Amino acid sequence: MKRFVRKHFPVGVQSWLRRAYYRYPLLRRLYYLPQDAAQRLRRRGGSITPPRSLISVGDGDFAAIGGEFLGYFKDLAGLQPDEKVLEIGCGVGRMAIPLTTYLSDQGEYVGFDIVRPEIRWCQKRITPRFPNFHFHYIDIHNEQTNRRGRQQAGSCRFPFTDGRFDFVFLTSVFTHMLLEDIGNYLLEISRVLKPNGRMLATCFLLDPPARERLKKMNSRFRHVHGDSLAIDPRLPEASIAHEEAAIRNLFKKSGLAIQDPVRYGNWNGRENFLSSQDIIVARKNESE
Ligand SMILES: C[S@@+](CC[C@H](N)C(=O)[O-])C[C@H]1O[C@@H](n2cnc3c(N)ncnc32)[C@H](O)[C@@H]1O
Repeated sequence: MKRFVRKHFPVGVQSWLRRAYYRYPLLRRLYYLPQDAAQRLRRRGGSITPPRSLISVGDGDFAAIGGEFLGYFKDLAGLQPDEKVLEIGCGVGRMAIPLTTYLSDQGEYVGFDIVRPEIRWCQKRITPRFPNFHFHYIDIHNEQTNRRGRQQAGSCRFPFTDGRFDFVFLTSVFTHMLLEDIGNYLLEISRVLKPNGRMLATCFLLDPPARERLKKMNSRFRHVHGDSLAIDPRLPEASIAHEEAAIRNLFKKSGLAIQDPVRYGNWNGRENFLSSQDIIVARKNESE
């Protein structure tokens, strides 16, 4: 469906459809009604799977991608079962669901997002079975997913005490945020991490070779937004790639030391890659 829209509809219509997806959740539920009903009939007692109408992360394999990232949390960031974990932009639990099989009763997971129905689903379906998994809705503005959000991403403060978490992660979230907003999020992440705590974030990172490959591929990342490249000129938060040097600078300013190498993804046609997006792991400086 997405591919069909990209091929046959002008950019302006695509932009409108993107906004409408979040603006009219009822339409989305109607559209996916048959699929959701079939899933409900098929569902066996044990599995936790959200309805298709609440999945806003595309048509990729929801469970497989969650499992892939659980591997990265363990292997790249050294996540331990008894640690305290914060997920920013948790959506409908793609990462939280596999984490329920890994974190122990001593461990804790907190996830927040700015889209209320997704958080409600997680609160209703995950927390009762895993009481150490908590989900919060926070009313932060994002032009695509929460355009009426009252707090600004560039100045908000996360509702968590300093040094509360061992590990913070964001998957496919900085890819929907403007650079100045990412700067504030990194400062907040550093504040809520314990000294020496780790974080993992996925991004779309630009450097001259990546820009060159994007041009050759005739990529959708072609709309200039400051030093960044967006797929939608009217809605940069739809998907946005930032200069790697600028992102590195923001990490440094926040007291977060990037643990090189960055694991680059294949989103810009790179031949050697780990995943689809670029993956950054960082450690909070002990002195911060
Ligand atoms: C592509 S989805 C990814 C969801 C989830 N991280 C995953 O990998 O399944 C992007 C998510 O980021 C959330 N988001 C966007 N801007 C945000 C912000 N400023 N703060 C927190 N979450 C945000 C959206 O609401 C959405 O749930």
